[in-house]
Amino acid sequence: MKNIMVLPGDGIGPEIINEAIKILDFLTLRYDLKINYEYGDIGGIAIDKYGIPIKDETIEKCKNSNAVLLGAVGGPKWDTTLPGKPRPEDALLKVRKDLDLFANLRPVKIYKSLISSSTLKEEVLSGVDILVLRELTGGIYFGEKKRSSDEKGEYAYDIEKYYTYEVERIARLGFKTAKIRKGKVTSVDKANILESSRLWREIVNNVHKEYEDIELNHMYVDNTSMQLIRNPKQFDVILTSNMFGDILSDETAMISGSIGLLPSASLREDSLGMYEPIHGSAPDIQGQGKANPIAQILSLAMLLRYSLNLALQADIIEKAVDTVLEKGYRTADIYDDDKKLVSTNDMGNLIVNEIKIICLNN
Ligand code: IPM
Ligand code: MN
Repeated sequence: MKNIMVLPGDGIGPEIINEAIKILDFLTLRYDLKINYEYGDIGGIAIDKYGIPIKDETIEKCKNSNAVLLGAVGGPKWDTTLPGKPRPEDALLKVRKDLDLFANLRPVKIYKSLISSSTLKEEVLSGVDILVLRELTGGIYFGEKKRSSDEKGEYAYDIEKYYTYEVERIARLGFKTAKIRKGKVTSVDKANILESSRLWREIVNNVHKEYEDIELNHMYVDNTSMQLIRNPKQFDVILTSNMFGDILSDETAMISGSIGLLPSASLREDSLGMYEPIHGSAPDIQGQGKANPIAQILSLAMLLRYSLNLALQADIIEKAVDTVLEKGYRTADIYDDDKKLVSTNDMGNLIVNEIKIICLNN
């Protein structure tokens, strides 16, 4: 029996998780998959209920599961700059760190049927296939941070620190992944300024010696942000730090048309992983049926593929999403005049129906 921890979180999290669970339920029944799932609280909802963004008990359950499916966390209700006050985002960082999920995979795929909803031109986009590989448990997100004051006044700092072993393991995964893709790694840093980036670059070069068949180039992060818009086809695997990966992956999301489409997987050395959309909790559209559940549904597909070894079922989900988009169904974020506007719920049902059709023919 495989166990999945489901953490819907805040904002649109619970709505889009519901759509993913519909699909999981259908596939479990259809293929007699031995999958159990259990819900847990994370983020603002956990702060409201227990005063902390995630309970240790929930973390333990995540550690003992085969995979975690997460919605999104955060919202204006819990926004605070007050030191010592719990923040929903702390829970996300805690799960990533406590589960040692150091590798964050953010694939960017172009849907032919959606090219028109991107702000970029078709000729720039067609053929783009990028994997942003973001280091997820180190760097400035987890370095020492402090607020204090001296004779010049109040100050604050956050430290970007990387250990060799942290760079090594993510670089190794980058080269391995490139091997089964287009064979190219672009390592992104700011080595003209940051010492941590100079170490990063040195280690990536060292690890590259084990993978000489893979093409490696280095690019500064500022240039990368420009190149992604100028000519995104030049990229295959973008290997980068926690902070740069966070920023660049929002940019790559826009290449695909909408941030509502992109799933992500956060993995450690074994098959345990956490799967979540790369978008946030979008509290402004919560409860209105406007949220796009596709990123969440594709996160479920990644979960089945990477943590449960169910590639067939993952393929089916991805194919069903393709077909529904090709048929012209759109949630508000990707809507165009000549298309059919549907709600969160409708989109989930349409994808389930498409999955049923695919299964009938299988
Ligand atoms: C992401 C998000 C998170 C991050 C936030 C919500 C903490 O932006 O997963 O990209 O910065 O890592
Ligand atoms: Mn982000």
